[in-house]
Amino acid sequence: MNLLVVGGGGREHAIIQKLKENPTVETIYALPGNGGIAQDAVCVPSIGAKDIESIVDFAKSHAIDFAVVAPDDPLALGCVDRLHEAGIPCFGPEAKAARIEASKVFSKNLMKKYGIPTARYEVFNDPARALAYLKNASFPIVVKADGLALGKGVLIPQNLQEAEAAVKSIMEDKTFGDSGNEIVIEEFLTGPEVSVLAFTDGTAIVPMVSSMDHKRAGDGDTGPNTGGMGTVAPNPCYTPEAAAECMERIFLPTLAAMRAEGCSFKGCLYFGLMLTSDGPKVIEYNCRFGDPETQVVLPLLKTDLLTIMQAVENETLGDLPVEWHDGSAACVILASGGYPGSYEKGKELSIPEDLPGHVTVYHAGDKALDGKLVTSGGRVLGVTATGDTLEAALKDAYAATERIHFEGKYLRHDIGQRALRALEG
Ligand code: AMP
Ligand code: GLY
Repeated sequence: MNLLVVGGGGREHAIIQKLKENPTVETIYALPGNGGIAQDAVCVPSIGAKDIESIVDFAKSHAIDFAVVAPDDPLALGCVDRLHEAGIPCFGPEAKAARIEASKVFSKNLMKKYGIPTARYEVFNDPARALAYLKNASFPIVVKADGLALGKGVLIPQNLQEAEAAVKSIMEDKTFGDSGNEIVIEEFLTGPEVSVLAFTDGTAIVPMVSSMDHKRAGDGDTGPNTGGMGTVAPNPCYTPEAAAECMERIFLPTLAAMRAEGCSFKGCLYFGLMLTSDGPKVIEYNCRFGDPETQVVLPLLKTDLLTIMQAVENETLGDLPVEWHDGSAACVILASGGYPGSYEKGKELSIPEDLPGHVTVYHAGDKALDGKLVTSGGRVLGVTATGDTLEAALKDAYAATERIHFEGKYLRHDIGQRALRALEG
């Protein structure tokens, strides 16, 4: 089989490595891919993930048997719809289902209509009304741009002054472009955060191993928000009781709500959850695999990934047993110094060839230049190790990070510490 994967980050590298385990796979094309992914797939750097016409033309002219659309932008732009029209089976939701991530107003209204637990909220399309509402609000409060904003459209002002600045920045200065035409202002919730990615064909749902992201740039959860500086799986805060409650009160009702709205969700649905004293609540939905959650979840998957993705597309997921390895995985992101602010690119990577078998380096932001790999993005590599325990996985992931070099290499040194403390109870 010939496969096509849309995207070019660490998440896509993890998906591609897992797809390659299927013996029927001949060629995997990555559009655009990156320097490191080129070791595992045929990359096409000239076709970007948002270039829907070129992706569809490429799929038609390269006898693609199955396509995986991984990032949010092409999903929201209807890449899966267009591939389906061209007769190409795909993994990923169509555009109207991708709204569950692409519009926070859509997802919040969905949760309210169907009684799915989430933070209380109000929607505003007029900055004057939003500013008036804030006068009587309590702080901290959460201000979210409606649309996709590269994961940066959420602000948590601590007082009225900061909140007014947030509304002005999103709605008047358009810091996140048209994403900020509408905003959601919602209640600030507290509790451990858990990411649960789930395979679903619209009716059946198979939650993957839970995970924990570390979104802030600095140790001790300080500094600006990033795309994610590291992950661990499973998340020790997510007990079997919490999982059962989420299934009953959140996962199944979400699928039923999407079906009832005429936009059944097929693909990977990502539940960003907060375990509050009042039970689990949805912080956000993503219409795709998380990055870097995928880099710890897929290494623990035992069942063949392509088989699962085909069952999702064929709506036969309910008939397929999906199995997981015991143990844990940890991923530490190596970023360019300065990220998530400005940073230099073009630094040569040095990665040893004799890393242990249970350690994998996923390439996120690099490119080939004169036969070498050089940095080309903020998050450069994700170093994942698996182990019998979380402690062992973390130790081996961190040991590998010390053997990988590039100028300006930046990493957090406390990935997994919160999870270890939760394990100690
Ligand atoms: P998002 O971009 O939606 O993932 O949000 C980024 C981060 O903001 C989340 O991971 C949470 O830590 C935080 N956040 C979002 N909504 C809330 C909320 N209602 N209460 C507390 N924290 C929140
Ligand atoms: N790591 C969070 C996300 O993929 O949105």
